[in-house]
Amino acid sequence: MTIAGGGEWVVHNAAGANRVVVTKELPGERWLDLLVSADCAVEVCRSEATLSGGEITQRIGTKCDAVIGQLTEEWDEALFGVLAAAGGRAYSNYAVGYNNVDVAAATRHGIPVGNTPGVLTETTAEMAVALTFSAGRRIVESDRFLRDGRFDGWLPTLFLGKRFRGATVGVIGCGRIGAAYGRMMVEGFKMNLVYYDLYRNEALEEFVAEYSEFLVSHGDDPVTCLRLETAEDVLRAADVVSLHTVLDESTHHFVNTERLALMKDDAILVNTSRGPVIDEAALVEHCRTHPDFKAGLDVFEDEPDVKPGLADLENVTIVPHIASATVWTREGMATLAAANVAALLQGHPPWTGDSVLPFLEGDVPAAAPSVVNAAELGL
Ligand code: DGY
Repeated sequence: MTIAGGGEWVVHNAAGANRVVVTKELPGERWLDLLVSADCAVEVCRSEATLSGGEITQRIGTKCDAVIGQLTEEWDEALFGVLAAAGGRAYSNYAVGYNNVDVAAATRHGIPVGNTPGVLTETTAEMAVALTFSAGRRIVESDRFLRDGRFDGWLPTLFLGKRFRGATVGVIGCGRIGAAYGRMMVEGFKMNLVYYDLYRNEALEEFVAEYSEFLVSHGDDPVTCLRLETAEDVLRAADVVSLHTVLDESTHHFVNTERLALMKDDAILVNTSRGPVIDEAALVEHCRTHPDFKAGLDVFEDEPDVKPGLADLENVTIVPHIASATVWTREGMATLAAANVAALLQGHPPWTGDSVLPFLEGDVPAAAPSVVNAAELGL
């Protein structure tokens, strides 16, 4: 059925009292069951194209109780105005990051904004590890070489890469995902960790201290974890730097020509956070002039486009924003996004538990898993 709002839409439980617009198809079934159980008519856009503000406005129409939207959409003052005028009582972003959402505008319109933390942590960190190894052990580059029929036999000097064990890994932004990545690199590859974050991550520091004692008690070398004074200190010190910051004015183009120059000539830079944290044109230039420098990128400044020259560089691994793309995580994100909407429409409070896992199986708690402007709205 093709109707107002751009693209093709399917409607589930058309008789439901609450009208919920979902701007992309979501994986799994639990999310839909939750909304239907909350008496929602659920309208899902089947098109893969990103909907414009105009198309979303058209779809919201004059009566819409809630929307589950995407990180590719710009949820600004105008859209929240349209949603509020249509009686909207909830918006949930199908992502943990919400730099595409003007939360202050949503708050002004009295609309709670949900997101999906707690199910992407390890999955995203694992992709950062994969990109680290792809860059450091030249996996994509050598795969291409072999497929091109250029492998003429084993050579002592073929595709020499980087040794991780005992080297220094740097994390910039040491929240949930950054800490999980740091821990994987320390635990798995016995690297020393340096990090920068506004806040000290005591749990991570304690873990590394205890792990180090364990290693020493087994006759291995110790490992360390240090919070450095500045992010620049991390760039200077580390052999591998992985970015895990949010995107806001303070982090936009954080990695620029000047900061790239601080890094070791053969360092590895990994980004699974948001593309604009790196000045991508500066990175292209740096990788061109520093062939031993490597980068592993999941996110890009002008997604879905990449800056000219990036895709031609052998020392760069690029994947299309798939760090959270496992079945478990993407179904979990759908469940959390729907649980936010279902709970808010039913007047339930925000969840106060440490983990969101209770939402993924069995009876759903009577709470919204994550509402980023809950305090501002007095929820
Ligand atoms: C997010 O959730 O913010 C990721 O970028 C996509 O999963």
